[in-house]
Amino acid sequence: MKRTLGVCYYPEHWPMDQWATDAARMVETGLTWVRIGEFGWQRMEPAPDQFDWGWLDRAIEVLGDAGLKVVLGTPTATPPRWMIDKHPDMLPVAADGHTRKFGSRRHYDFSHIGYRKEAQRIARLMAERYGKNPHVAAWQIDNEYDCHDTTLSYSDAARSGFQDWLAQRYQSTDALNRAWGNVFWSMDYDSFDQIDLPNLTVTEPNPAHVLAFRRYSSDQVVAFNRVQADEIRKHTDAPLIHNYMGRITTFDHWAVGADLDIASWDSYPIGFLSDRIEGTPKEKQFYLRQGHPDNQAFHHDLYRAIGRNRMWVMEQQPGPVNWAPYNPAPLPGMARLWAWEAFAHGAETVCYFRWRQAPFAQEQMHAGLLRPDSEAAPALAEAAQVAQELADLPEVDAGAAPVALVFDYESAWAWDTQPQGADFDMFRLAFAAYRALRRAGLSLDILPPDCADLSAYKFVLAPGIMKLSDPFRAALAKFDGIALIGPRSDGKNEELAIPTPMGPDLPDTDVTTVMAESLPPSDAIKLQGGGRFLHWFEHLEGNADVHLATKAGQPAIMGGDTIRYLAGWPDDDTFDSIIGNLCDALDIPTYDLPKGLRIRDTGTHRFVFNYAPKPRKWGDVTIPAAGVHWEKL
Ligand code: GAL
Repeated sequence: MKRTLGVCYYPEHWPMDQWATDAARMVETGLTWVRIGEFGWQRMEPAPDQFDWGWLDRAIEVLGDAGLKVVLGTPTATPPRWMIDKHPDMLPVAADGHTRKFGSRRHYDFSHIGYRKEAQRIARLMAERYGKNPHVAAWQIDNEYDCHDTTLSYSDAARSGFQDWLAQRYQSTDALNRAWGNVFWSMDYDSFDQIDLPNLTVTEPNPAHVLAFRRYSSDQVVAFNRVQADEIRKHTDAPLIHNYMGRITTFDHWAVGADLDIASWDSYPIGFLSDRIEGTPKEKQFYLRQGHPDNQAFHHDLYRAIGRNRMWVMEQQPGPVNWAPYNPAPLPGMARLWAWEAFAHGAETVCYFRWRQAPFAQEQMHAGLLRPDSEAAPALAEAAQVAQELADLPEVDAGAAPVALVFDYESAWAWDTQPQGADFDMFRLAFAAYRALRRAGLSLDILPPDCADLSAYKFVLAPGIMKLSDPFRAALAKFDGIALIGPRSDGKNEELAIPTPMGPDLPDTDVTTVMAESLPPSDAIKLQGGGRFLHWFEHLEGNADVHLATKAGQPAIMGGDTIRYLAGWPDDDTFDSIIGNLCDALDIPTYDLPKGLRIRDTGTHRFVFNYAPKPRKWGDVTIPAAGVHWEKL
């Protein structure tokens, strides 16, 4: 497959007579794609049912005639001001009960059926008008679901939608009361319309109630996306895409992805480093202008899976962003490295955000490929270099990975609802496992929780999975590599209650978690032979073999040859040694990588990325800071 580059462009921000020059310059830079439209509703429909499509017709024509392919976005993340007059109750409500106002973006409630119909209507009108347009080669639906914490809304619309959803799921309040354990604290309900949203309670609400609301809220994102996808599909065969974000777990991306053709995501490595990734101040200083070396890779692998092998980066950071606590400029070379890393992980296309820095409004301090005065910003030359290199490089395919990591959104909701320890977070745990695998130089796949076939892998990790799915359990029963399940896996039923017999329920493996404890940062469980568990430790019992024990003699890893349960959350060094030992046992080669180097193997090439701020050696090759090296496999 031919890999391509693109850029995000807002024709409505610039005079019409500038568009052709911009388009010619995009083509000259080597860009193939241009994404437009996703915030343009007010310009498309300035007043209810009064349309002005002229500018968009013209923009598509100018860009297309220049030789660019257009990704057309539906503008539903920015309903115009008049929409609020039409549907005053469509604004989202925060957990503390205050209404979130008009004046920025994403000011809508996923549960509001009136607004959902408006979104469906504008998607239909756009698809009718542009579905057969030869320049429109892909569609983006909405923009970044959950950006600015917008999945959960505690509105009247959400309450009545939730009550209907509960009635359908449980059929009777008796069944719901039983499933949730409402006998505890006399919380039983007699009718579904008594059930409020789980905010503003005196102390914590019933975790089953919260988990139900999280499921309901995720379903609303899926439904909102689906009504638009269904409309657009009637008029085009072009692929449908959403641009997901990093580290967002509030809705089930596997479920949204099932209705789309490509999963894309928005990659802001430096913006993320300062406050969305764990790390010591020293590490953050080391990676200040490069971003964390595993954050991009994790999301590429995750979204490649969610897109069923079709993945893009829809927005790639080009220079300083405007929204992190501090916004340093990338090291020269990073705008090139990030693109190559995406391609090495299977991205078909990488689009830089944005073409020209806007001189006005919220994002005026956010860099683009061009400065506000249209002179080149540093990333323009790097994008041009990638385009040139792509033209020269033979095909890059994704290749087969020996290792897989299971990632589950429901579990993220479960542990948000009932963390039991302040540091327990699903993403953090999965990412800790992923980071250790990458430090060992492994290329891996991420799998959905209902994955039914593990035969392609030798080593599978499933940390933090609330309840193993039946297909996954069946796949484990047939697996002949090593599966490391846990910590905190398969100890709950689907209502977040403790089942009897107690879990985990692992094929042919006699292990039971009889007690779990969480630990403050000042404490750790020491392991025999060195190593430590942090944050979390489960007391295991059973007849299975103990493969690793704590200093106090309790099981730390327990199970058979194939399926093993990990009782705690290993610190980085311990994760490294556990993974190293299991890979040795499985004959999977690992590497002792110098700090900042990462490898990704494709079917044809090995790529080596230098995230360090200084040169690094890879064999005989010296890779400069922010450098990329590739060699034939
Ligand atoms: C993304 C968003 C873009 C822009 C960008 C700035 O989250 O999709 O519209 O705001 O961030 O970094």
